[in-house]
Parts: sequence; C-alpha cells; structure tokens
Amino acid sequence: MSQAISRRQLLAQTSPETSPGLPGEAREDLLDRGYSRRQLLRIAAVFSSVSVAASVGRPAWASGGVPDPAPEAKTRIGANECWTGPMLPGQAAAAAIISASNRYSPKDQRGDFIKAVMQVEAVPYDHVAPWPGSSDPLSRAVVTFCSPTKALITADPTFELAGRTADWLGAPVKRVPLKPDYTHDVKAMLAADPSPGLYYICTPNNPTGTVTALADIEWLVANKPAGSIVLVDEAYTHFAGVPTASYLAKADKDVIVMRTFSKIFGMAGMRMGYVMTRPDIITKLMRYDGGMQSGALPIPSLACATASLTAADLIAARRKEMQQARGMALEHLKKRKLKVIGSDANMFMVDWKTRPAKDMQAAFRTQDVEIGRSWQIWPTVSRVTVGSMEDMTAFCAALDKVRT
Ligand SMILES: Cc1ncc(COP(=O)(O)O)c(C=O)c1O
Repeated sequence: MSQAISRRQLLAQTSPETSPGLPGEAREDLLDRGYSRRQLLRIAAVFSSVSVAASVGRPAWASGGVPDPAPEAKTRIGANECWTGPMLPGQAAAAAIISASNRYSPKDQRGDFIKAVMQVEAVPYDHVAPWPGSSDPLSRAVVTFCSPTKALITADPTFELAGRTADWLGAPVKRVPLKPDYTHDVKAMLAADPSPGLYYICTPNNPTGTVTALADIEWLVANKPAGSIVLVDEAYTHFAGVPTASYLAKADKDVIVMRTFSKIFGMAGMRMGYVMTRPDIITKLMRYDGGMQSGALPIPSLACATASLTAADLIAARRKEMQQARGMALEHLKKRKLKVIGSDANMFMVDWKTRPAKDMQAAFRTQDVEIGRSWQIWPTVSRVTVGSMEDMTAFCAALDKVRT
C-alpha cells in the first residue's frame, strides 16, 4: 500500500513539467523499471520537444542519427551514404504523389508499404512497423528494454547509437570486442551479464562491414536469459546480399530486426525505415509518444520506399556496382601494402599503423576527399565508405598524394 502511494507520488512529481511529452502509461512503466525522475527527463528529450531538449541537452545522436554536416568535399565517402539517389521507380512514385500530398493519406500508402515488406520478407502485416529511419526505433529499443538495472550488451567497435543512448539514460553498457574475424562474439556477449535488457547485433557491422552468421544469432536467441531482447540491425544487409534474420521475427522470437532506406536505397534525406518484430514489442516501442513518430510518415517517402523495396534487379545492380568499386579500391590498397579489414558492405577499414586516423582524415580533406572517422578502440584505423567508381578512383589518387 505504502509502495503504491509513493509510486503515485512519484508519478505526480514527474508530471507534467518534469517529463513533458511522455504519456502517463509510459511514465508508469519507466518508473516501475527503476528509471529516476532525472532519467525520465532525459528520456523525454530523446523523443521530443525542443523545450525539453533545450533544458537538459540531448544525446549525441539527437539529430536523429544523421551526422553533422561534413565539410563539403567533392568526394564524399565518409558517412556511409549511397553514392547516388533513390532508385528511379522510387523517384517516379514520390514525384507522382507530391501533388496529392495535401492529404494526410491520399490512399493507404502506409498499408501499401507494409504489404511490400510482407512480399519481400514473408512476415505478417502486424509484425511490421514503418519508421522515419532506424535511429529513432533503435534508441527507443534501448529505452524500452534497458534500465538502470538492465544492461545493453553491444560490440566494440560497432555503430555507437545504442551504446550512446544507454550511456545518456544511465543504463549500464557492456562493450564486447569483436572476434578476430571481426564478427560478433555472441558467447562473450552472453557471458557479459547474467540478466541484460538488450543485445545489439549489427550485421553487416558498421564499421567493419562483417556479417555475423545467422547460426550465431540463433544461438544467442536460444541461450539468452528470458526477458531480454536481441536487436538485429540490418542497415547494410542489401550490400551483402546474405539471408536475413527476418524469419526470427516471423517466428515470434524475442528479436527485433531493423532496416533503413538510408543505405543502398539512397534515401538518407527522405527518412524511411522499418522494424520487424512481434506486435506486443511494436506496441511497447510505440508507447512513448503515442505512436506519433511511427505513425506519421511523409507520403512521398513511403511511396518511394514501397517502389524501391520490391525492385530486386535494381538492388542487385547497385550491390554489383558497389562491389566493383570496392574491389578496385581494395586492390589499390593491397598494392600499397596497407592493412585493410575485408568487408561485405559499402565500407572498409584501413589501418594507417603509424598515423592517427584523425590526421589522415585531415590530409584527405586537403585533396577534397572526405573519408570516414575512426573508433576509439582503433585510433589509427579509418572507415572509408564505398562510393561510385569515380569516387573510389579519386580516393586512390588522393591516397597516393597524402602518403608521399
Ligand atoms: C548500423 C546503422 N544503423 C542505423 C543507422 C541509422 O540510420 P537512419 O537513421 O538514417 O535510418 C545507421 C546510420 O548510419 C547505421 O550505420
């Protein structure tokens, strides 16, 4: 009884000024899971309004995962974007719907998009939730399943958004080094914590581009503690062209599979993505803002994504184009005897050995080439995004200049 009263008091204290924008049900759940009032304020900043963010600041990814604008270089191979824009059928579909975009939903564009996902992934309708990109659902998966007592288990190096969000919220983070073959060490991830909230697996991994075997992911799902969730981030999967984990979502496992249109589909600026998982997990992910983020998507972006997702031939052609450009660049680096981490995606890592990656990035800028950043664990290793053949030719020429 006394517990109920103090909880009610706590709830009252957190509403509405201290956690504006968080619905009551979400606040209740967060308090039950051990988040403090201060952390609620930070969670509100994750999802929201400018005024909240202004009062507490925002995590590093507050731009929605979109990196700060890089210096305008002629050759932009730093941010893992696609070297070219949306696929032509997608562009045509987006252009065709613009004149009807005075309507919130001229037809059922959201439904059509989900049906396209069902067609290519063989998952049921209620297992799909479209989102404006994957940064948002990725962060909210951390809020939903981690807490002060439920850790995030992630790899090192990997895409940092999940780890940064957990750090921001005050949830424990266990960073587990990749295996010597640069894939996720699922056994070490399992051993890292007896009862975590979320495992984050990025495959192909950003920044190494390496694919973690589905058998390893299945093993983790089968052996993980009850109640924890495995999040499989497949942002780069089309570049690898390997089988995906969507069947685990279809089988109602404790798995969230996440996709974005920011990579092979060339739609980073159009903000489209989706998650595949059980309906009860979708409901949990959506409760922080009453589904606003997920429900309201720009109609041209939905139309473009729908037409692109089913264009299997065009996806395969882009993959091939990237592989050729990557092959040419890797061959060049090999001849220069530089150590490269082999990749199945549109990025690779180069080890400069004696020179800090930051200095090399600055040196490439003098050649009008913007390469990617490094990760704390490997300060002499730079990530380079694979662009067009023209981009990679410029990269190779710049490399020879900056090394002499
Ligand atoms: C692995 C991975 N996941 C998710 C994202 C987020 O992308 P977006 O928010 O554009 O969908 C990125 C962006 O670079 C990424 O590399």
